[in-house]
Amino acid sequence: MTTPAAVVAAHGLRFVALGSAAALPHLDLTPLGVPATFLDAAREPGWVERYHAVNLARFGGPLALPGWVLVDLYLLPSAIGLLLDGEPHASPNIVAAYYAAPSLEPGTVIGVSLLSLREGLGAGYAVKALTLAMYRARVQRGVTQWRSRALRVHTRFGPLEVEGPAPGVHGAAAESFVYRVTLGAPSPGDAVAVPIPEAKARVAGGERVTIVSPGLAADGEHVILAR
Ligand SMILES: CC(C)(COP(=O)(O)OP(=O)(O)OC[C@H]1O[C@@H](n2cnc3c(N)ncnc32)[C@H](O)[C@@H]1OP(=O)(O)O)[C@@H](O)C(=O)NCCC(=O)NCCS
Repeated sequence: MTTPAAVVAAHGLRFVALGSAAALPHLDLTPLGVPATFLDAAREPGWVERYHAVNLARFGGPLALPGWVLVDLYLLPSAIGLLLDGEPHASPNIVAAYYAAPSLEPGTVIGVSLLSLREGLGAGYAVKALTLAMYRARVQRGVTQWRSRALRVHTRFGPLEVEGPAPGVHGAAAESFVYRVTLGAPSPGDAVAVPIPEAKARVAGGERVTIVSPGLAADGEHVILAR
């Protein structure tokens, strides 16, 4: 497993935090030893628009990000983590991005949006790891989809304890579940591949299941559960 710092170095990437100046004192700007550049969203409308555009390119339909949610719930309370390519003075592109919202539980953040525009580099894993370290998070909760490739990223951070189905108003509720992960927790040794419809039914029936790395089987139709 390559470290986030190695992914950044190998591909000439830069880690940037785009958010509120009010959040700045609370961020670790050398997460996992990688230097971060802070961009004040109030002074960087071009970067806010670029992030919005890439988010809309990755999440459409009922999951499309409204501008007011980006401003009120991403940029005012905290900061988005971005991996950029290119040289400092060129016009870099966003390679990957992650945002998790602060929560009332100390040390716990709510994963909201993971995206990568260049798959195959490990950029999704790297940007999530760097951003969670920047927040000094110990626990992450969030919603993800049973058949998402992101399961292979999320489970690298520890076993996903499935809390239950996503509430019906979520734009992709039928395909989604709510999980909690203690970052860096060890995986239970014994695991089994379970067809996704069976796992969904077990969760819908109130069973507490735990998804462990690699999360989603290569066929995309089975999840890997702790026995
Ligand atoms: C999910 C998504 C972010 C993955 O993009 P990505 O990270 O660039 O994809 P990659 O192919 O580089 O890596 C995915 C993999 O990261 C792994 N990974 C790669 N490098 C790694 C590293 N250095 N350390 C640990 N894990 C790593 C993951 O396990 C998985 O590997 P595998 O499938 O090869 O076994 C991307 O497909 C996406 O943006 N999807 C649309 C938006 C979306 O669905 N987001 C998630 C919502 S919850």
